[in-house]
Amino acid sequence: MKKENQNDLMEKIVSLCKRRGFVFQGSEIYGGMAGLYDFGPYGVEFLNNLKNEWWKAHVQFRDDYVGIDSAMFKDPRVWEASGHVGGFSDPLSECRKCNTRIRVDKELKNIGISADEKMPEKQLQELFEKNKQNISCPKCGAHDFSPARSFNLLVKSNLGDFTGEGKNPVYLPGEACQGIYLNFKNVVDSTRMHIPFGIAQIGKAFRNEISPRNFLFRTREMEQADTQYFVRPNENKEEYERVKKNRFDWYVNLGIKAENLRFVQHENLVFYAKDAWDIEYKFATGFDELEGIHDRSDYDLTQHMKFSGTDLQYTDPHTGEKYIPWILETSVGMGRMFLAFLTDSYCEDKIGEDTRVVLKISPKLSPIKVAVFPLLRNKPELVEKARQVYDSLKKEFKCEFDDNGNIGKRYRRQDEIGTPFCIVIDFDTLTDDAVTVRDRDSGEQTRVKVMELQKYIKDKIN
Ligand code: GAP
Repeated sequence: MKKENQNDLMEKIVSLCKRRGFVFQGSEIYGGMAGLYDFGPYGVEFLNNLKNEWWKAHVQFRDDYVGIDSAMFKDPRVWEASGHVGGFSDPLSECRKCNTRIRVDKELKNIGISADEKMPEKQLQELFEKNKQNISCPKCGAHDFSPARSFNLLVKSNLGDFTGEGKNPVYLPGEACQGIYLNFKNVVDSTRMHIPFGIAQIGKAFRNEISPRNFLFRTREMEQADTQYFVRPNENKEEYERVKKNRFDWYVNLGIKAENLRFVQHENLVFYAKDAWDIEYKFATGFDELEGIHDRSDYDLTQHMKFSGTDLQYTDPHTGEKYIPWILETSVGMGRMFLAFLTDSYCEDKIGEDTRVVLKISPKLSPIKVAVFPLLRNKPELVEKARQVYDSLKKEFKCEFDDNGNIGKRYRRQDEIGTPFCIVIDFDTLTDDAVTVRDRDSGEQTRVKVMELQKYIKDKIN
């Protein structure tokens, strides 16, 4: 089996995503908008499967977590309390020749200088001044840049601002998790959750990224799957390790190769964090952050208590003790997760004489679980039987009916989108009421009675 050369891999994935309707450039017919993507018919199925698996693991299977879905727009004071209005920025510089903007920390890294956006601003500015003659403008190649300055990433809107002058902006969420903090008290008051417990949410976030890049890796609009686990003050260490391990194992259990994942601790902490680790994945462009796991201490609830004037302390129901809980966060961008799973499952291999592109993805995540083919499209009795099988299976699984082209081509089409099972209805089916089920990865074919098909597939998926 040939695993792709890493340099070609990203191009092949982007091309597959467009060709097969997984992901399209946002506003493509108008020339496209940087950092924005639309999920197509297979993409949305895959994305929803990822979200469902994530939700099941963090809400359905856990007694100590509940889920919420908060409004995107929030009182603008939320973003002052959170620190985003004052401190949520990336270091930017502009090419003096062609006005192209670059992200200073990323460009320094590209020339081998250790830098990141969480470094103190002054230190980063000095590093940039010292080294900027070695950085080339990605557009015109010049080496003439303005001094580095901080650029705030929050995106503004005029929702509810009827002055017509944008005087009272509200912000799109810079991170989805703030909705969880705002509802901490509501959840405690309306459920029987007692500390320690967690709240999970999948929500949109927006950032005015200076240089969106690498397809779904760095976008301006994203969805974040977050868990926030509330613990007693100073009882964070053990839970933090559990949360970290839990997230790593989740990826491996869903098929990501463990050798393509690693933990990296942050050297420079963002303003809210006491400790922070990334789970990095080996993307086609190399190891990079997939998910952030942060020990946020009591920063968030303390800030919201100060700014809102609402008491957000938790009262222990047994001892009456009052305290502000500490928070352990996991946060992953769904686009990055999508890209990681695609990257990990993309293969080119040989099956018989044929070379094929195949997504060897966990059947739980495959956009289509079952494809149903009549052996020949011009035999009405085969087509009718195939339709019957398809109609019965589609109530249980996302299925596709395909009678176009020879069987080999139909298999190739399904391999490329990761369909784990293809079912062929042939002349024998009409007498023995059995079909051939072909396994995506091995190519093995098994004869299964129509009556037993549903159970057979369900068992294989699970
Ligand atoms: N609430 C914490 C938080 O937002 P973060 O490290 O800024 O922390 C968490 O983001 C995760 O969100 C990242 O690990 C990444 O998966 C995803 N993410 C962040 N910025 C992104 C972007 N511009 N495009 C795509 N995903 C992004």
